[in-house]
Amino acid sequence: MTGWVVIAGLGPGAEGLITPEVSAALDQATDIVGYIPYVRRVAPRAGLVLHESDNRVELDRARHALEMARAGRRVVVVSSGDPGVFAMASAVFEAVEEGPEIWRALDIRVLPGITAMLAAAARAGAPLGHDFCAINLSDNLKPWAVIDRRLRLAIEADFAMAFYNPRSKARPDGFGMVLDLLRQCCAPDRVIIFARAVSTAEENLQICRLEQARPEMADMRTVVLVGSSATRIIERAGQPFVYTPRSVPA
Ligand SMILES: C[S@@+](CC[C@H](N)C(=O)[O-])C[C@H]1O[C@@H](n2cnc3c(N)ncnc32)[C@H](O)[C@@H]1O
Repeated sequence: MTGWVVIAGLGPGAEGLITPEVSAALDQATDIVGYIPYVRRVAPRAGLVLHESDNRVELDRARHALEMARAGRRVVVVSSGDPGVFAMASAVFEAVEEGPEIWRALDIRVLPGITAMLAAAARAGAPLGHDFCAINLSDNLKPWAVIDRRLRLAIEADFAMAFYNPRSKARPDGFGMVLDLLRQCCAPDRVIIFARAVSTAEENLQICRLEQARPEMADMRTVVLVGSSATRIIERAGQPFVYTPRSVPA
């Protein structure tokens, strides 16, 4: 039997945001590998083995998937959102690069998903409609000094920004430092969107100005979008629209 590894993005949460090609791969799989809450999003069925693991064992999980594919299994490694955005696709390729030569000959494919920042942006309007960047605020896999430098340069370049992993119980203080830095460098009316659990039953969207933003408005289920200096709010009854114009004046 010919095995394969598909590294698939399950999107931000809603069933309807899983792409048809990801659904087809899940239907053909013999094994699902991933972080516990993501594996639980896959419906169990006869003949499908679910391998749940903790989120700190990405490389072990990747090696396990590759080894099963070499043995002829059809393995889907699941991530939330897109698998190439702060997720498992890089971990699998890191394992391939460091692993036995035979893994390089395996059928390995990456299937994209809708990443959190795009799902959140769509809920608010078009805040990422001009140039933007995405920064992971977790210092688990990089030093805080790197985050600080990238933030300062992104602010200076006037990008809109998407912050992943903004705040967790293990990292309660970093996001407050990010807000302090934004306050030092940006006008108090800079637009900020806190988008929590987008496309799930717990979805919550808060649109505010930098002067109103508080660290507690973010947690690990939140993606934070910070507008550029050009990002605008269109007030109306109910939730406003947020957008960043398509052009920057010369
Ligand atoms: C390890 S990263 C994984 C990102 C994922 N691969 C993606 O493309 O969305 C986890 C972070 O993604 C963001 N996130 C994931 N799903 C989300 C959702 N439904 N709503 C808001 N943010 C989400 C949060 O910032 C969370 O801390």
